This record gives sequence, C-alpha cells and structure tokens, in this order.
Amino acid sequence: MSTKIVIDCDPGHDDAIAILLALASPEVELTGVTTVAGNQTLDKTTRNALVTLEIAGRSDIPVAAGAEAPLRRELRTAAHVHGETGLDGPELHEPSSRPVGGPAADFLAELMEPGVVLVPTAPLTNVALLLERHPDVHERIERIVWMGGAIGEGNVTPAAEFNAFVDPEAAAAVFASGIPITMIGLDVTHKALFTREHAERLRSTGRAGRFVAELSDFFQQFHERSYGFGGSPIHDAMAIAHVIDPTLVTTRHANVAVETRSELCDGRTVVDLRGVTGREPNADVGVDVDAERFLELLVSRIASLP
Ligand code: BDR
Ligand code: CA
Repeated sequence: MSTKIVIDCDPGHDDAIAILLALASPEVELTGVTTVAGNQTLDKTTRNALVTLEIAGRSDIPVAAGAEAPLRRELRTAAHVHGETGLDGPELHEPSSRPVGGPAADFLAELMEPGVVLVPTAPLTNVALLLERHPDVHERIERIVWMGGAIGEGNVTPAAEFNAFVDPEAAAAVFASGIPITMIGLDVTHKALFTREHAERLRSTGRAGRFVAELSDFFQQFHERSYGFGGSPIHDAMAIAHVIDPTLVTTRHANVAVETRSELCDGRTVVDLRGVTGREPNADVGVDVDAERFLELLVSRIASLP
C-alpha cells in the first residue's frame, strides 16, 4: 500500500529533487503538485515544477499554481541560492504541459482526503489559504510534513529558516491549526550533505540523474561559499524521505510557535523541547537523522528513474 502525497513547493533545486524522489519511490504516490512564490516568483516556480515532472516523464501529474506573494508581506526570494531561474545549473527547456486551472488552495482542497499526506517544501502561504478558505478540510487533512524551520540557527537570518521567514504569518496559522504536523528543519537537513561523489554516481544514470547532478553542481556553490560545506543539504527531499521511511528521522513531540512581530526574529520557529512554556505540544520536530541511509535512499532512487 503506498501513501498518497501532495507536494506544495517552490522549485528550487531541492524541491525538484524532492519531486523526483517521490516519483521514484513505490512507498508514495504523488497525486498532485502545487506551487507558491518563494525561492523564485510564482511563474518561475510553476514552470520549474512542470519541467521537473517532464524530465521524469510524469506530466500526467497535475500542477496548480498558488499564491504570488506571502499573506501580508512583500515576497523575498532566494536568487542567491537558486539563481535567476530558480533552477540554475541545467539547461532548462520550456515545458510543453500547462498548470491546471484554479488557485492551488482550491485544488488542494479537492486533493485532500483521509490518508493523503500534504508535504509543503516552501513558505506555507498556500496551506494557510487552504485552511482559511476551506475550513471543512481540517478534518480531511490527516497529516502535514513540512520542510522548514529550525530549532537552532536559521539560514536567512540568524533566527529564521527561509520557508518560515518568507511567510511567518502563514507558518504561525498552520502550526496553530491543530492539524498533526511534522517539522523537518535545518537541524536535521544540515546533517546530511549530498557531495560531488553522490553527483558523479548519478550523472550518467539517465535524464533525471543528469538533471540532479547538474542541479547539485550549482546548488553546491552557495553551500561552499556560505557555510564551507563539502556538500549540499537537499532539505526538501528529507521531508519526502520521512514519509517513505519514518525511521530515518528521529522526532520529538513539542510545541512550536512562530514569531511574527520582532525586528530581529521574525520567522523564528520557537521549539519548546523541554516544555518550559506550558504550551501544549503541537508538532513532531526532527532532531536527528540517519544521514547515510537517507543519502543512499536518495541516490539509489534517483538512479532508478529512466
Ligand atoms: C528551504 O528554503 C528553500 O530555499 C529550499 O528550497 C528549502 O525548502 C531551506 O531553508
Ligand atoms: Ca523549497
């Protein structure tokens, strides 16, 4: 029995790799992709989602475009990490497929049914709009597995991780919703680095393998420059891997609140691991990962794509 999943994303190098990991994995069935502004503007993230599906020969999977901007803030993109296209590195062709009509929030409402896991790998704007516009969906969303946040240091500011930072109001609304949510944050994604050796193993395996190797060639530059890392965290793929194999990431049940009114700390995910605030736990938070097993899963699954 495979688990149906929907990915809400902003491709983005690691989002694209996350989509490919899902497509290569029999444990999950990707029933739809929705896009949001984040790493790049909405037109680019939507095009990139279509391109990625096309590379895997899976343009049958519907893509719906969503929010062009965060709920109440100006959009801040991550061109310094993902480039002007949002997927700099490989040569990108215009996709031949088109997004389906209707904003992502409405499309998500149609796709959400008991048993489906929603995997957002981007700012939570679309998910917050889904909950606001379709309150009935609360009962149908079984689980959210979100790549975002950090217990420790952020990556955009010292306090905040990118997906939380771009739309803190949306993140705050989703964590307050009462829907079971797992947070796969920087604390775990930074522990598993995809190296040049991994890229070389994939480069000649096929179209998807070459695409991932070329994505990683570009993505690696930021992580070398900014962190001195010898590899890149493929953040978003870890959220998918967690659905595929829940034993990879160790989680702790804790309260997570999102800061929305601070000059220095907007977008900070405040994780109360020791229960000192008295707030009820509302999330399962990734605290450790079997990095080697995750990377092997990622490389072997991508290599299996045609
Ligand atoms: C997250 O931010 C984006 O740049 C990545 O795609 C990932 O979802 C990591 O902080
Ligand atoms: Ca992303």
